[in-house]
Amino acid sequence: MQYTWNDIEQYVSVCTHCPLSKTRHQPVMGRGNHQANLMLIAEAPGEQENQQGLPFVGQSGKILDNLLRDCGLNREEIYITNILKCHPPGNRDPREEEKEACFPYLKYETFLLKPKIIVCLGRVAAQHIISPDFKITKQHGTWIYRKNCALTATYHPSAILRDPSKYESVKEDFCEIVKKL
Ligand code: URA
Repeated sequence: MQYTWNDIEQYVSVCTHCPLSKTRHQPVMGRGNHQANLMLIAEAPGEQENQQGLPFVGQSGKILDNLLRDCGLNREEIYITNILKCHPPGNRDPREEEKEACFPYLKYETFLLKPKIIVCLGRVAAQHIISPDFKITKQHGTWIYRKNCALTATYHPSAILRDPSKYESVKEDFCEIVKKL
C-alpha cells in the first residue's frame, strides 16, 4: 500500500515513537511544494516551531528566507523538513534513538517528493544523510550523487545567527544549488 502526504501528516501528528512526544507541544511535519525538485533537510524543530507546528518560523527561518530571496527562490518552490519532527528540549542535539524512530517519516517524505536535489542544513543533518564523518566546515558546498538525486550540505541558518560573517559563504552555496536546479 502506498501512503499519501495526508497519511504521513496524520501519523506524525499523533506519533509516540519516542519520548519527545511527551515533551513536545506540536509535532512539525515538513512543509512546502509537493512537486518541488529541491528538498531542504534540517535537524529538528526549535522552540518557535514547537509552538506553531511549522518548520523554520523562528529566527533561523528569517535567515533562511533571506538566503532563498538572495538566490531568487522562495518557500513556495521548495520543500523543507527536519530529521526529527519533535523539538528536543533545550535545543540539544537529536539522540540516535530519536533519529532512528523518526527516520521512516523522512524516508516517506523523500519517497513521495522524489527530489532532484537534497540540501542538508547543518552538521547533524549532513552526518545523518550524507556521511557520519561529514565535516561541515570543510565539505559544505560539495556534492555527492545517489540514484537520481544530487546531495549537498551547507551551514544551518542558526550558525549564521551565531556568526553573521558566514552569511556570504552560505549564500554562495545556495546560489550554486540554484544553478544546479
Ligand atoms: N531549526 C531547525 O533545524 N529546524 C527548524 O524547523 C527550525 C529551526
